[in-house]
Parts: sequence; C-alpha cells; structure tokens
Amino acid sequence: MLLQIPELLTTEELREAQQLLANAPWDEGRRSAGTQAAQVKNNEQLPHDCDAARKLRGIVLRALDRSPTFFSATLPKHVFTPSFNRYGNDRNSYGEHVDNAVRFAPDTGQRVRTDISCTLFLSDPNDYDGGELIIRDTLDEQKIKLKAGHLVLYPGTSVHQVTPTSRGQRLACFFWIESMVRSNEQRRLLFDLDVNIQRLRNTYGESPEAVALTGTYHNLLRMWVDT
Ligand code: NI
Repeated sequence: MLLQIPELLTTEELREAQQLLANAPWDEGRRSAGTQAAQVKNNEQLPHDCDAARKLRGIVLRALDRSPTFFSATLPKHVFTPSFNRYGNDRNSYGEHVDNAVRFAPDTGQRVRTDISCTLFLSDPNDYDGGELIIRDTLDEQKIKLKAGHLVLYPGTSVHQVTPTSRGQRLACFFWIESMVRSNEQRRLLFDLDVNIQRLRNTYGESPEAVALTGTYHNLLRMWVDT
C-alpha cells in the first residue's frame, strides 16, 4: 500500500526542522547503505549522533505519535531511528535499489524488519528540480514529490530510487517500520476497515452495526497481530 499523510508536521515544526537542517554537519550517505545500494547511493546524510539529528528525531517521532492515520496504516511494532538526507550539487541522486530487509538501530542494535518504508519531505517542492521518489511495485510505477511536512508510506519490498536533483536542495527524513502485522494484504484490509468504520460513525453516529464492525476489526487484529 502506498499512502500519503499530508501535514504530518505543523508549520512551526517544519520551520524548526528546516533551521536545524540548514546548520547541520552533513556526511556522505553511502556509509549506511547495503552493498548493492551503496553502488547507486550518492547523497548526504546527517550523522546519527549529532545534536541536530537528535532534535530532528524528536520532532518527527512526536509528530508520528499524534497521527491516528499513521498508527492505523502501519500498526507499528518498532520505528527505526529516523535519519535525514540531502540531495543537491554533486551528491544529488539515489539509483534503483531495495532497502535491506533488516536494519540495526544505531543506539540499541535492535533488529528492525523493514516492512514499510517512509519518506517525510522537508523541502518546498518549488525550491528544487528533480528529486522525485520513484517507487516500482510489481508493474506499477509511482512518482512522488510532496509538499514539505508531508509523509509517504510505501512497501519495504519495492524497488525505488530518487531522481537527480538538478537545482536546489532536496531535504528529507526517512525511516522504516516493523509492523505488528507483517502481511501487506492483512494490514491493508485492517486499514480499509478502520477508515470506513470511522466514516460510518462520522456520517451516522454510533450504531449497533458500527460497534459490531469495530469488534470485527479488533478480532481480525487479534488473529493477525504479533506484539
Ligand atoms: Ni531506499
């Protein structure tokens, strides 16, 4: 499932994040990539342990915590430490690759299975050319370039790339989710059910049918969840 969550960050959070990124110490992005990905990765990344990265992670994690759509769509078991990258000048692209299936959290060494990939756009799309996230899932190809503060979720299994940024700078935050529900199909069904139960409630108010469907949602979740 490919899902956009608009305005994950508030205007103030976005402004603060952009200020932190403008004054941050950037490093080569290649270091954190797997062997295949390292050959096509040409961008910059914030060192995990710098002060700016710490503050930025706090902003992003707080924003994720307050988003019911994010929770419902991902059913997170672990959120891999959000990282930050920059594309521009000579370091401006990331060719086709697949993300490593398992990543080790920098602080704790905890293993995180990358069920869902996430990109939070942090630059105004008018400030740069190119820099599209292209996601290929089976035969379908999607081009994603979102407003600053908007988030996109896509399957960790997909081949994807970031096209060259030919003008300006493209700043983004990226991370992965290990979901309590491993199967994309099951997670998709749960999300659709949840969204439509909310809509039923909003349109018709509480009803015995909405209560029963909520029960169905939780019973499916109970059947599929791995806590
Ligand atoms: Ni990737």
